[in-house]
Amino acid sequence: MNNKLIVALDFSHRKDALKIVEELRESVEVFKVGIQLFTSCGPKIIQEIKERKANIFLDLKFFDIPNTVEKASEAATALDVDFFDLHLTGGREMIEAAITGSERRAMLLGKNRPKILGVTVLTSQSSAISEVVNSSTIAKENGLDGVIASGLEVAEIRKRVGKDFLILCPGIRPSWAKKQEDQKRIVSPKEAIENGASYIIVGRPITAAKNPREATKRILKEIE
Ligand code: C5P
Repeated sequence: MNNKLIVALDFSHRKDALKIVEELRESVEVFKVGIQLFTSCGPKIIQEIKERKANIFLDLKFFDIPNTVEKASEAATALDVDFFDLHLTGGREMIEAAITGSERRAMLLGKNRPKILGVTVLTSQSSAISEVVNSSTIAKENGLDGVIASGLEVAEIRKRVGKDFLILCPGIRPSWAKKQEDQKRIVSPKEAIENGASYIIVGRPITAAKNPREATKRILKEIE
């Protein structure tokens, strides 16, 4: 995947989500399907986005007992998504169960498993940098492919996890975008990438913009 922008499809109606995919798919390679869209539309929406030649990050943030997370990870793998995630607070056994479930299903399907990411601390909550860095280290030690953290912590995480580990940053607010109060640990697209983010995750600054294509262009230019 060449570009570093993931667009969050936080919609309740498939038509709204697919409209954004169609509008942006020439410049955006990965779209994020989260709990709002998945709960509203079901797994069929994954197929519909894939038919439009886009890659998918299934952001359901698994957090449950290991057996349940193992089975959910098998199911996410069967959906043929490119990334999915879980809460790191679920602990080592839960992380291992996710990897086991995903690898088992991937082997049956004869393909590589999706990248599995760990959520450190939600960007809507305040947190100590050490907490985020420590949980990122645990994610790496336990075999995950990357973490989700704010652009404020990414430089410190990068120092600890090296260059190949994925760090995805939500809580992105370009200087020209409306501030949304629920996101507390925010940075600009440029800052996040300069600090070492592998990808930035952007929702409302694009999806609620008057012209989503123009907003996407501005963000891509900023992180070029
Ligand atoms: O609209 P906005 O740009 O704030 O959207 C950010 C997206 O990233 C949302 O879909 C949210 O669920 C997701 N996310 C987040 N913080 C995390 C993990 C995911 O904001 N730690």
